[in-house]
Parts: sequence; structure tokens; C-alpha cells
Amino acid sequence: MARKPVVLVTGASGEMGHSLIHHLAERGTFDVLAFDLRPMDTEVARRCAATRVGDVLDRYLLDRLMSEFEISVVFHLAALLSTRAEFVPETAHEVNVQGTLNLLRLAVEEARSHGRPVKFLFPSSIAVYGLPDLPGKRKAGKVAEPEWTAPVTMYGCNKLYCEHLGRYFARHYRQLAAQGASGVDFRAIRFPGLISAFTVPSGGTSDYAPEMIHAAAQRRPYACFVREDTRIPFMAMPDAIEALLTLMDVRAESLTTLVYNAGAFNPSAGELAEMVRAAFPGERITFAPDARRQAIVDSWPEDVDDARARRDWGFRPAYDLDRTFNEYLVPNITRRYAAR
Ligand code: SER
Repeated sequence: MARKPVVLVTGASGEMGHSLIHHLAERGTFDVLAFDLRPMDTEVARRCAATRVGDVLDRYLLDRLMSEFEISVVFHLAALLSTRAEFVPETAHEVNVQGTLNLLRLAVEEARSHGRPVKFLFPSSIAVYGLPDLPGKRKAGKVAEPEWTAPVTMYGCNKLYCEHLGRYFARHYRQLAAQGASGVDFRAIRFPGLISAFTVPSGGTSDYAPEMIHAAAQRRPYACFVREDTRIPFMAMPDAIEALLTLMDVRAESLTTLVYNAGAFNPSAGELAEMVRAAFPGERITFAPDARRQAIVDSWPEDVDDARARRDWGFRPAYDLDRTFNEYLVPNITRRYAAR
């Protein structure tokens, strides 16, 4: 009995899921199977070959997916982000780690059943880094992949460990057994904070940037939960999706690691506020730092060294800060809220 060939996207109702499915549909080369705990909105669902509502922890449901579909690529986006995870760390571990393990196991079985490698694209995060304190963060500047990997959040620990799980599955799976490689072709990008014009994130700690912009566009005052001098890297959502798709396409021989940094710009929260005020004059942005969330952001690097991604697979963000604001965010966000 033929199974339907698809690309599986977990976390399909989340911010990255929305945008990724949009781009995959535009490319038109893949049929998408969207999977999420929450039902997909109609805009996402109509771009997919199939949608399923369920939990990445439900192994029986994942088995059922395997009986129906032939999965050639997995985009495993489902996760609890860094702020939300701190309220329920054990649950976050379940979802973020056990969920990833379940999807890696699915990828092994799929690769074995159709006899071809399964690409496994994994969004990791700057949250895998843990700088000791503010002077240390400033001194470290641009952080490269092997440096400062002592995360302070459950989410960061989960992402870092899942990178190791991916490497284990790709290179060392059941190394003492007679059967050969797992067939999982694991590739990860450590993303900075992501900013989308079309969705707002939920439960992250880099959320102050997108929240500030979306609030101003809706003519709502915004109290930023970090200090004005806070600096971490960010990227516009289209570049994040483009990076994932480029990494998916590149030949394995070009890759010198399985986990890559990627960054685009790194304004301070104060500089961001200035840009938002200029774009939406008269909007009130204030700063009311929350000491605990501030400490999380202070442990993240002020910039990332992404030379390796640039060299190995030609990563080059199309949107710098000005272009992100003027060509992507302001026009799209303004239209979005004007239409309501
Ligand atoms: N944006 C994420 C968060 O804030 C970091 O990967 O949790």
C-alpha cells in the first residue's frame, strides 16, 4: 500500500511553523504534513497536504503517522520556549527532549522503511549559551559555536542536549549493533531572537523586541521587561526560514559541523525602541525591567559568530536592521492591524 510522501512539520501552529509552511507552499516542491497540539488555522491548513492535531509525546500517534505517510524530511519545531519553560521545567524537559527523541526515532524508522536518509532540521537557539555575567558577556562579544555552552535555562539545556542527541543519531547510533547507520541526517541552526511581522511569539525571553513593535503598531503603550542597554542578536523571520531551507538543500559534504550559529543584527533594546518610536510616532515605550527575565537575557551573547554557516552553506541574511524595519516589519504590521 503506497504511503503519501510528505515533509513533516511539528509545531506547525507556532511562529516558525506558520512562516515555514507558507514558504514551503510557495516552493511547491513538497507536500506538507502539519502537526501541532493546537489545531492549525485555516490559512496554514489550506497550504498543507494533511494536518494532524496531537502531542509529540504520543508515540502511538507518531506510529500512526508513519503508517499513513512516507516522511522524507522532518522540521521539528515544537518546543516550550525559555520563559514558559521556567514555570514548568520538568514538563519542558519532557516536551523539548523526549519529544525530540520521539521524532528522531520516527526519522530512523522512516529512513529504514524507505531506504533513504531522512533530513532532520532542528531550530536550536542562542539560549544554549550561558555567559557568566554582564562584564563577561561584553568581553565575549561574538560567541562561536564551541564557546560558553553552559546554559542557565531549562530551554537552553534542552536545546543543547538535543543538539547532542541529533549528533548521536546522525553519527553514532547503536554503534555496537550489526545494523549500520541510522539514516538520520541531522542539521541544526542556533537561531537568535526571531521577529515576524505576521505573528507574535509566546513564551520566549527575546519576545520584548517583537512585542514592542506589535504593540506600537496597535497604538498600545509597551513596558519593556529588559533594560535599555540589553543587547542580543535578532533576525527577521524570512531570513530564519530561508536559512533552514538552505541548510536543508546543501550537500552533506559541504557541512563541517551539524550545528551552526546564524545572526543578522543586534540592536540594544533602547535602540530598538528608538526605531519603533520613529516608525510609529507618539507611541509610548517605557522600560520596566523584570530582574529574572533580565538575568536570562544577560546570560545570552550580545552577538554570534556565524562565519561557519557563511562559509559552509553561504548563509547571508537578506534583511539588516534597517531593511527589516522599513521593508518587512513596518509595512506588513501596519497593514495587518489596519485590516482589523
Ligand atoms: N526566542 C527564544 C526564547 O526567547 C530563544 O530561542 O525563548
